[in-house]
Amino acid sequence: MTSALFTPLKVGKLALQHRLAMSPMTRNRATIQADPTDMMAEYYKQRATKGGLLITEAVGISATAGGYPNTPGLFTDAQVQKWKTVTDAVHQQGGFIFAQLWHLGRTTFSALTGSQIVSASDIPLNGISPAGAPYETPRPLTQSEIKSIAADFAQAAENAIASGFDGVEIHGANGYLVDQFINSSSNNRTDEYGGNKENRARFAMEVTDAVVNKIGAEKTAIRLSPYGEFQDMDDEDRVGTFSHVVKQLQDNHPNLAYIHLVEARLDQDRSWTLAPFRAAWKGPIIAAGNYTEDYKTAYAETEKHDNTLIAIGRAFLANPDLVERVRNHWPLNDYDRNTFYAAGEPKGYTDYPTYQKPQTSQA
Ligand SMILES: Cc1cc2nc3c(=O)[nH]c(=O)nc-3n(C[C@H](O)[C@H](O)[C@H](O)COP(=O)(O)O)c2cc1C
Repeated sequence: MTSALFTPLKVGKLALQHRLAMSPMTRNRATIQADPTDMMAEYYKQRATKGGLLITEAVGISATAGGYPNTPGLFTDAQVQKWKTVTDAVHQQGGFIFAQLWHLGRTTFSALTGSQIVSASDIPLNGISPAGAPYETPRPLTQSEIKSIAADFAQAAENAIASGFDGVEIHGANGYLVDQFINSSSNNRTDEYGGNKENRARFAMEVTDAVVNKIGAEKTAIRLSPYGEFQDMDDEDRVGTFSHVVKQLQDNHPNLAYIHLVEARLDQDRSWTLAPFRAAWKGPIIAAGNYTEDYKTAYAETEKHDNTLIAIGRAFLANPDLVERVRNHWPLNDYDRNTFYAAGEPKGYTDYPTYQKPQTSQA
């Protein structure tokens, strides 16, 4: 019997042929000007499958959205042109590709944005940044700046479609700007963007509205990490807050391509499941996080929920032919953490081997 993992599912207007998606992963192989490179086209092409969905690494929506050295953008003509080589390569394999769009808020650096970094509030991230210094204190955004960032998301979404992407995923997860507004730990505003969950969800909703108005709900998706603790994320009522966000999406945009939910980590409370959010959303769901620890869970989730895709991160970067390996129960390459973010390097990026069947002896 064919597992539900290898049966079709409609996502927006796309007819997917299987339910294994590539999770968004920042890989720092763009140029220092944030332009995509030929190496990136090769990487995504290697991982494209007929009717399969790839989600790109996070892509900057504007010159002031920040990033890290060698992460790509979608705000200049040169970037739009170069991304076409990526989308063409994926489409030639019969695959589909969404661009993940981000604004980093307080997690970036003024050296990259050219001005003081911004966030919901003036609460800095704890600890030392990858640049080797304590994180900078952000400036709370004004209401007119908030509206203009929502417009930047919409413009980047339009650029993505011009680059040939099949849709965009708003990065509302993992402690970046949208998440900084949602979580009470990073938002102490007293205006209509702070305080109760309705107010903290407002920016996520306005970004979604703006993107949907520009490119249509069926090409728009959003990623959320309700249980995320990365980059100091914490909320006074995770389930209540994120259920509200998901319910708003259901009420206002029931035709989104999908919502993408990051599972709790294996070392977190095992009662922290996606069930409350599944209850609030009727359309396609991508679930991500730890599914390669034991493929049976990926199979089981798609058997149980007929609206579900599974996104795979680390194992997909290390296995260009991951989909065939899972389909055939072939062993996986290990990933090399040292090359996750190795700027400019093909090593650990485009050189992971595909599965070779063991040679049978001639003797
Ligand atoms: C190298 C690396 C880069 C990542 N970059 C992003 C990113 O740009 N956007 C995002 O939403 N998640 C990012 N993630 C998180 C993954 O999308 C995924 O949720 C996580 O790796 C858990 O899935 P896994 O257990 O299958 O690896 C990244 C993960 C890794 C390992």
